[in-house]
Amino acid sequence: MSKNSRELVSEINRLREEKNAIILAHNYQRPEIQDIADFVADSLALSIKARETDADVIVLCGVDFMAETAAIINPDKRVLLPDLSAKCPMAMMLSSDELLRYKEKYPEAGVVLYINSSAETKAYADCICTSANPIKVVNSMDSDTVIFGPDRNLAYYVSERTDKRIIPVPEHGICPTHHQLSMDDVATAMKRYPNAELVVHPETIPEVQEMANEIASTEGMVRYCRDSDAREFIIGTENGILYKLKVNIPEKKFYSCSELMICPSMKMITLQKLRDSLLEERYLIEVPENIALKARRSIERMLELS
Ligand code: 13P
Ligand code: SF4
Repeated sequence: MSKNSRELVSEINRLREEKNAIILAHNYQRPEIQDIADFVADSLALSIKARETDADVIVLCGVDFMAETAAIINPDKRVLLPDLSAKCPMAMMLSSDELLRYKEKYPEAGVVLYINSSAETKAYADCICTSANPIKVVNSMDSDTVIFGPDRNLAYYVSERTDKRIIPVPEHGICPTHHQLSMDDVATAMKRYPNAELVVHPETIPEVQEMANEIASTEGMVRYCRDSDAREFIIGTENGILYKLKVNIPEKKFYSCSELMICPSMKMITLQKLRDSLLEERYLIEVPENIALKARRSIERMLELS
């Protein structure tokens, strides 16, 4: 570690204590951010941790919807996102107007939104889900038809595992990082590592999901790889998870499906920006109360189910 990084680390530690702050990081964050965080996890575990903490300040090292979710369920805490440009493109693919059009078209349907969505759209959902619990959430709906968005690949994953009729909204909502992973990429990795199991995220395309030994959220991947008898794994999700897997399960081997599996937004948080965020208390994430009130209900409903 460089002298500059060492100085940043000690400053972050000092500020964290001084401000009674907690640093929450997603599994895709850079290694140095994972190392300094109080807690590193998937979207579901991060929102549970954000609800439980008694810290005054929550610094969310992740993307916009994660910080918004923490702010919505913690109206009395200051929630900071170290870089405002860390936006999830998938979350931007569904507008409230489009969601309302679908609700009008299918008035009898329940609405389940992936946590990777805007606060405005969450306000119109009956329940939120993450990649760790979509089937449980969809099955908890009273209606036989469920409007589900914004990820059409996750919608496919759910539709294969429930009797409910799933209506994806929007028609073409995807994660650019996961959606680009092709069957060819996966086949090449499998040829290279013939003894490895394939573990993929449900944001990958259906054809890739069908090739996998296991489909899981990022935290589900850690659990699966730890418990499996296999010694080697090809991982089909954003490559930041490889660091977490190697640190947590050093006795096993992990390989990436493709070097293109990088989410630029997740990589925007650096030690420098984290230090500045704590020092200047920026960027404060605030959700208008009329939206937060409704979105809170749909997030809390998921947390109760979890
Ligand atoms: P997880 O909740 O599985 O960590 O996924 C979040 C995400 O953004 C996946 O791209
Ligand atoms: Fe959004 Fe995809 Fe990045 Fe996850 S990996 S934050 S879904 S763009």
